[in-house]
Amino acid sequence: MNKFSRIGFILAAAGSAVGLGNIWKFPYVTGEYGGGAFVLVYLLAILFIGLTVFLAEAVIGQNAQSDVATSFVKTSKTKNENWKFAGFMIISGLLILSFYSVVLGWILDYVITSFSALPTEASVAGAAFEKLISDDIGNLIVYHTLIAGTVIFIVLKGVKAGIEKINLILMPLLGIILAGLLIYALTLDSFSQAVSFMFSPDFSKINGDALLAALGQAFFTLSLGVGTIMTYSASLPKEANFVKSSFYVALVDTTIAIIAGLIIFSFLFEAGAPSAAGPGLVFISLPVIFSGWGVLGQVIAVSFFVALVFAGITSAVSMIEPSLKFFIERFGFTRRKATILCGSIFYGLGIVALLSMSKAYGAELTFFGKNAFDWMDFMTSSIMMPLAAIITCIFLGYFVDKQMLQEKFTKHTSVAVFNIWYSLIRYVVPIAIIILFLNKLGILS
Ligand code: PHE
Ligand code: NA
Repeated sequence: MNKFSRIGFILAAAGSAVGLGNIWKFPYVTGEYGGGAFVLVYLLAILFIGLTVFLAEAVIGQNAQSDVATSFVKTSKTKNENWKFAGFMIISGLLILSFYSVVLGWILDYVITSFSALPTEASVAGAAFEKLISDDIGNLIVYHTLIAGTVIFIVLKGVKAGIEKINLILMPLLGIILAGLLIYALTLDSFSQAVSFMFSPDFSKINGDALLAALGQAFFTLSLGVGTIMTYSASLPKEANFVKSSFYVALVDTTIAIIAGLIIFSFLFEAGAPSAAGPGLVFISLPVIFSGWGVLGQVIAVSFFVALVFAGITSAVSMIEPSLKFFIERFGFTRRKATILCGSIFYGLGIVALLSMSKAYGAELTFFGKNAFDWMDFMTSSIMMPLAAIITCIFLGYFVDKQMLQEKFTKHTSVAVFNIWYSLIRYVVPIAIIILFLNKLGILS
């Protein structure tokens, strides 16, 4: 059987969730929104909204044990075939994977350069980063090919021998590296400063933008709205406790984000560097700090970027799996044929994304002010993922038999928990997402 064990599922879903979203994005967004208050809002968004949608995808997946499109049809009260169109969300996985693979390529370059010389000044580090992403096209194509090849190699082996296995190896290694970095951060005087930055809320920093950023981050970090959790849950044995498993995954993801934040802010404050450096935080600020720590700094730099690669690979394989399952189950493709098709699509789009940042080949080619890379990011996180989440909530809240859902939940938890989840699904989450949606589209800002 090509199914997860229960622990394999938790590990794989946690592997999907824990990614660049935790170690790169969460710290820089927290830095930009001033720390504590943002963290608090983020935690609430995870607890009430992220976890709700996670449970939604998990219950659909485990119940239908099929690809995303078929799962919607099977779960609906009327078995209406049109629900197959909800399967559009699997496209987001391929789109995200296209540019995620490019970013993982940048990180691969950082692993390699960390062995030689680290930049000693922010201006030098900034220029090096700029040059990498807009000039070193040959190298970037090699890195993207390596990452894409690795992802393809893993998923070709299937759910159990490929995805479960790689998570079994990489997740503990990731845990060890992060534990080591955390211990080092604990020895720094700036650790307590990092704690107070992240945990003493200054509510004057909270505005509409911060709320929406927290909500968007909650979806992205838990791998929601692309069919990943639904697809992984379809390989979860039918009797396994999906409620508990979902809690564990959300807990692991949140813990890792907080730990990554504590590590990075300790490092930044130790060097007196600003916390609001934006996306360059990890690529520009950190290398300069590491360079000041001599050989130890180099060891830390290599470990840190290797951790990012490990976290990213286990997320990357989870982005392509919904599409593979779709072609395998609905069109009878072999896993091999599905992988060749979907692999070529994301590999090709990744090349487009990569060239769209290059000075020589594509930087001039923008459409409404965004290049291809930015478009893939915007289309997925601002449009397709929130849309998918809202469709999933409305589907469960209004088009699925309530009795059936209640039975699934109360096998593992109390009626009270089910009732809370059900009201969140019907009212709270859809409204929150609509606000997010309108704001991102600029209609509410
Ligand atoms: N959750 C992953 C991260 O935090 C990203 C991801 C999004 C993975 C969507 C799968 C699907 O980096
Ligand atoms: Na995450």
